[in-house]
Amino acid sequence: MKILVIGSGGREHALVWKLRQSPRVSKVYCAPGNGGIAAEAECRPVDVKSLESLVAVANQIRPDLTVVGPELPLKLGVVDEFTRRGWRTFGPTKAAAQLEISKSFAKEFLQRHHISTAHYAICNSMDDVRPALQHFHPPVVVKADGLAAGKGVVIAKTKDEAATVASEMLSGKMLGEAGARVVLEEFLSGDELSFLVVSDGERVAPLVAAQDHKRVGDGDTGPNTGGMGAYTTRTIVDDKMRDWLVTHIARPVVAGMKAEGAEYKGVLYCGLMMTARGPIVLEFNCRFGDPETQPILMRMESDLVEALEASIDGRTSDGDFRWSDDAAVTVVMASGGYPGAYEAGKKISGLEDAAKLEGVEVFHAGTTAREGAFYTSGGRVLGVTARAVELQTAVQRAYDACGKISFEGAHYRRDIAARALKR
Ligand code: AMP
Ligand code: GLY
Repeated sequence: MKILVIGSGGREHALVWKLRQSPRVSKVYCAPGNGGIAAEAECRPVDVKSLESLVAVANQIRPDLTVVGPELPLKLGVVDEFTRRGWRTFGPTKAAAQLEISKSFAKEFLQRHHISTAHYAICNSMDDVRPALQHFHPPVVVKADGLAAGKGVVIAKTKDEAATVASEMLSGKMLGEAGARVVLEEFLSGDELSFLVVSDGERVAPLVAAQDHKRVGDGDTGPNTGGMGAYTTRTIVDDKMRDWLVTHIARPVVAGMKAEGAEYKGVLYCGLMMTARGPIVLEFNCRFGDPETQPILMRMESDLVEALEASIDGRTSDGDFRWSDDAAVTVVMASGGYPGAYEAGKKISGLEDAAKLEGVEVFHAGTTAREGAFYTSGGRVLGVTARAVELQTAVQRAYDACGKISFEGAHYRRDIAARALKR
């Protein structure tokens, strides 16, 4: 069968890499893809912000299955449109993707269905913000309601700062349309966990859990990013906790969406804070996580195509995935300046030496290929990924590989999975 993957990041490279391993797959296309993906899939240019452009590409390729990576095409209704045309597509409809598209929708949904989430207030103007702030203790989390590519959350140390941030968001200065409404939220502390499941609208099949590292700097300092690295191990959550998360979060969400007439098919990514009061939902994403997907797929032993088709056909079951007990870790190498402004077009060296290391896969995110060489073309450039029986070895391998790769301005966190190693 022919598969089309939509997107251009490290997540999509990992999806292409994994889908190609399925004996049922004869060819993988990626639109638009990136420099590294082009070595494994036929890439087609596409504007992922245009439904017309996505339809045109799929119409040329006529894939047997389309897998949507990023959230923007979901918001455009790519699954609705492709499905209407009879093209099998994995992912949620636009209505179901509201869980990610609108944080206020997600918060109210969680409250309606009694699923644990942080205390919050939804504000449409500064007239809402000022009185609402009286009910919060600093730090206060200020979130833009709409999609903001990981940049829509600010943790304000004081109420004054919270008011300033909210005002900048609401005015449209900071994030445009995405900030037209804001959510104020209680600050929670604990370990974050990315818990992903695949659903067919009714049942769920959990993936192994992972932990992302959102802040740009070591020790969780500096601004939030799209994610600077992730790891997954056999022990990141035990069986009892996994069952609890399925029973108290994933299944109720899927049942709630169905009851509200927006059946949820696809990947449901539950962003959780593991607090002293128990796991609490921070956010949902309606797609595979980036960079979590890179280490997660390194551990997947079953055929991903089978699980995606089970979701589409309404026959997801708890046992759709089989996993290696190995640990896997991804370290993101980013362009100088990221998550702020950065320069592109820097030549990348050492990729071949890095890929030769045992257990290592280098997934490309922001790269382009030109005359046999790779150049940077985005903020997050590479997801240097390694697996090993022990987490410590996987981490060592990933950093050994990073040490072999260089490009001007490259930076990466040195402490991915460090807290897990200390335990
Ligand atoms: P979100 O897009 O809602 O996941 O927020 C992005 C990141 O901001 C999360 O991964 C957390 O690191 C942080 N964050 C979001 N909400 C909270 C909260 N209520 N308390 C503490 N940190 C938060
Ligand atoms: N790693 C966070 C995300 O995929 O949104």
